[in-house]
Amino acid sequence: MFATTLKRDAAQTSQLPLDLFGAIAGLKKELNAVVLAHYYQEGDIQDTADFIGDSLQLSRQAADTSADVIVFAGVHFMAETAKILNPDKLVLLPDLDAGCSLADSCPPAEFAAFKAAHPDHLVISYINCSAAIKAMSDIICTSSNAVKIVNQIPADQPIIFGPDRNLGRYVIKETGREMLLWQGACMVHEIFSEKKIIGLKIEHPEAELIAHPECEEAVLRHAQFIGSTSALLKYSQQSSTNTFIVATEPGIIHQMQRSSPGKQFIPAPPTNSCACNECPHMRLNTLEKLYLAMKNKAPEITMAEDVRLAALRPIERMLEMS
Ligand code: 13P
Ligand code: SF4
Repeated sequence: MFATTLKRDAAQTSQLPLDLFGAIAGLKKELNAVVLAHYYQEGDIQDTADFIGDSLQLSRQAADTSADVIVFAGVHFMAETAKILNPDKLVLLPDLDAGCSLADSCPPAEFAAFKAAHPDHLVISYINCSAAIKAMSDIICTSSNAVKIVNQIPADQPIIFGPDRNLGRYVIKETGREMLLWQGACMVHEIFSEKKIIGLKIEHPEAELIAHPECEEAVLRHAQFIGSTSALLKYSQQSSTNTFIVATEPGIIHQMQRSSPGKQFIPAPPTNSCACNECPHMRLNTLEKLYLAMKNKAPEITMAEDVRLAALRPIERMLEMS
């Protein structure tokens, strides 16, 4: 098994051109491809992308693109969303194993039973879930439109919100709406240490803590600003503060540093000493794998048409409501 992997890696490395950026640019033209990248991707991938954004912006780009091929530099549920919106296009994910701990925390059979136990509830699902969960949902949301979407639901309509309990709790706080929460979570956003963040704030009294709503309440309560990755980026550009402690995946700091070169961005520390605040799923994608995916037109995202159609409806509702 190990020898096979080594052989495969060696074979793939021998296919790599010296100028990967140039080769990717050439393949974009040849395939009429667009490269979409999430802010959590490594810097080199962000630098080669045609569009970098948060989950909502990337879904919009995927819905509007005229390209024949979508190369999705993100995780599986994001590429799946692009495929749901574009059944006739080739959607490539550089590493098919780039999953998501949050999506995995919501197994379809268990969620179906949860939903069946509350038949009068409307199901709002965070986009970080599988196509099977989307297919069981009434409306999809992202971290940038969750509050706006929940605010549009009639007050007497009970709601199930899944799969992220932290985003759900944040939305409850912001909207004053009671919601039944699925108890899922993201391993990256639950690893931040409240104690170390407090220590950093003492060390840098001028710093502002900016946090993603997937973080636990213990972290969010210290934040000066809470928002999606694109909202955090915008806030860091507009705030007069010069130092930020950033409580989300540190890939976003690449764009923060680019747009505000004079400011200091400190990644919020995890509870242990590893780099566990880096998303291990997002980081499976590399520039090399992105090139190979374009060259080989694989790995490709596919799904059953009945699941795709069922998952499309709640995504379209989200795009209409946000
Ligand atoms: P946004 O892209 O909505 O900021 O969400 C971050 C995230 O965790 C994506 O996996
Ligand atoms: Fe999933 Fe968390 Fe990684 Fe986002 S950061 S892709 S929610 S595991």
